[in-house]
Amino acid sequence: MQLLAVPSKRRQGGRTQSSRALLWFLCVLAGVLGRGSGCPSVCICNGTDVDCSGRGLLYVPTLNLPPSSRALLLANNRLSTLPADAFSNSTSLELLDLSNNFLDNLPATLFHDLANLTELVLRNNSLTVLDRDLFQGLTQLRRLDLSLNGLSAVPLGLLDDLSGLTRLSLAANRLHALERAAFEPLANLQYLHLGGNPWECDCNLRDFKHWIEWLLYRGGRLDAVECTLPKDLRGRDIRGVPVEMFNYCLQLEDENGGSKGGSPPCSRGGAAQPSGSPPVADTAPAPDCVRQRYRPVSVRRAIGTVVIAGVVCGIVCIMMVAAAAYGCIYASLMAKYQRELKKRQPLMGDGDADGDPEEKQISSVA
Ligand SMILES: *[C@@H]1O[C@H](CO)[C@@H](O)[C@H](O)[C@H]1NC(C)=O
Ligand SMILES: *[C@@H]1O[C@H](CO)[C@@H](O)[C@H](O)[C@H]1NC(C)=O
Ligand SMILES: *[C@@H]1O[C@H](CO)[C@@H](O)[C@H](O)[C@H]1NC(C)=O
Ligand SMILES: *[C@@H]1O[C@H](CO)[C@@H](O)[C@H](O)[C@H]1NC(C)=O
Repeated sequence: MQLLAVPSKRRQGGRTQSSRALLWFLCVLAGVLGRGSGCPSVCICNGTDVDCSGRGLLYVPTLNLPPSSRALLLANNRLSTLPADAFSNSTSLELLDLSNNFLDNLPATLFHDLANLTELVLRNNSLTVLDRDLFQGLTQLRRLDLSLNGLSAVPLGLLDDLSGLTRLSLAANRLHALERAAFEPLANLQYLHLGGNPWECDCNLRDFKHWIEWLLYRGGRLDAVECTLPKDLRGRDIRGVPVEMFNYCLQLEDENGGSKGGSPPCSRGGAAQPSGSPPVADTAPAPDCVRQRYRPVSVRRAIGTVVIAGVVCGIVCIMMVAAAAYGCIYASLMAKYQRELKKRQPLMGDGDADGDPEEKQISSVA
């Protein structure tokens, strides 16, 4: 804080400015000292561009940009958090570049005032979760770069206002599946980058694969979507995985459909896909359809049931065979024993009396 008191040679006016020469990253606080509308002291401004990149900033300077400002460049700094109102004075911005920082959490309303924004770059940060309202109101957005983050999901609703988006990059994140419904608002998407994610090409990705086919059908471009799971599809590009590979998902749905109390089948959206016109809103799959992650567990359960039933049947069968065999052997042994008894002691005369109860016993065992 004391550093702030060091007078700056660069700025005139009686007010003390932060010491740009000493430590760049503390200069951020210069904004606190305030000024009328103008270029933040740590940035370089020409008519339309405000360039604050590579200044080692830990905090966003107070921004009171000239109303003509169209671009704000904050790339290559050390920003890790942003206050919700960081850009509330920057409504004229069309480009906002926050790439190569350490942002890990963005307030849901951070961009809400940037109604004219056409390009937003969040590449190479530490984002793991995005609030579903984060991009609300950014109806002019054309390019959105979220690559090189730690995103594991694209929440439903996140892209709802971005129908004008033409480029979207989600490359190099931790995505293993995407929900088709989240992407359906992107009716004008031209380029989609999904590479460098650990895709799991199971039923979970099936609906999204149908959406991909629709994207390609209307001329969109897509980079490689390589499966990491299941094992036998590792390294395969999902575009090359035949739809038939996902047929078993339909069976799973049929099986699970009954127990779930008549949820609509998920196949309808995909089947009618390449018929031309963009998907109608009502084909948005029900949440149940989209979340099929746990379906394979039920398969395993079903197989387990069959195995257990088989083992139980087998054991019962073996026991019955053993009992029958035991009965036969016992009967023949007893018969032989009686015969010998009669041979050895023909004069005792009681052989029949001994034999009868035993024979009854044998027949009851058999
Ligand atoms: C401002 O600088 C940027 C490069 O940083 C340049 O592309 C842009 O044309 C400049 N604008 C004006 C109005 O000079
Ligand atoms: C917005 O501008 C006002 C002055 O017009 C200033 O007091 C305020 O701190 C600025 N807000 C931000 C977040 O820069
Ligand atoms: C947004 O863009 C429109 C058209 O270019 C312009 O008229 C309007 O003033 C801009 N809004 C702001 C806040 O700069
Ligand atoms: C990502 O950002 C970090 C920190 O700013 C930087 O060191 C690294 O080189 C960047 N990586 C890429 C691929 O841009």
